[in-house]
Amino acid sequence: MIDRLAVLVSGNGTNLQALVDATADPGFGASIVVVVSDRPDAYALTRAEAAGIPTEVVPWSPDRTRSTKAVIDVLERYEVKGVVLAGFMRILGPAAIRRYPNRIINVHPSLLPSFAGSKAIEAALAHGVKVTGVTVHFVDEEVDHGPIIAQEPVVVEPGDDVESLAARIHIVEHVLLPAVVGDFVAGRLSQAGVMSP
Ligand code: GAR
Repeated sequence: MIDRLAVLVSGNGTNLQALVDATADPGFGASIVVVVSDRPDAYALTRAEAAGIPTEVVPWSPDRTRSTKAVIDVLERYEVKGVVLAGFMRILGPAAIRRYPNRIINVHPSLLPSFAGSKAIEAALAHGVKVTGVTVHFVDEEVDHGPIIAQEPVVVEPGDDVESLAARIHIVEHVLLPAVVGDFVAGRLSQAGVMSP
């Protein structure tokens, strides 16, 4: 049972907040047992504290293997069964993927495989696409890559800038991510990322 979740964050934590709100319902089937940030100043940590969720900071070193091991140590200490990357802007090393195979979910602000990376919204605007969106996927050893679980389109409006487009993308993320995580913890996702019948 995937009843103990960790959420990994780096920034504002609006997606964390959506997950906190969703898991507050006892019917959700899982709780967030720890929030892990690579940045001590992430506002997401304040959100976690306000919700009474333990927080851990794992400062990211240039040695990704070592940082990944530090994250795994935290996850094991909290007996975590599933991991959600909600605006976590670091790349976990292969050891984490091996330790939690098909147990790590990421939300990304584009329709992957378009615009992977940390500046997806900027890249979509620069490219002039008319539609972008949100992807939720299982994490594998490549960046913003792995079996796609769900995608939702977001139309790019004339005159959009990063702020306006990001705001509409966030609205979609805050619905899609908790919905997918709900399916994940209930065992409704296959390893390929598709819904089980
Ligand atoms: C979200 O839009 C998420 O999709 C993105 O960071 C934002 C975090 O917002 N993640 C990535 O770009 C990962 N490559 P939040 O801190 O308010 O949840």
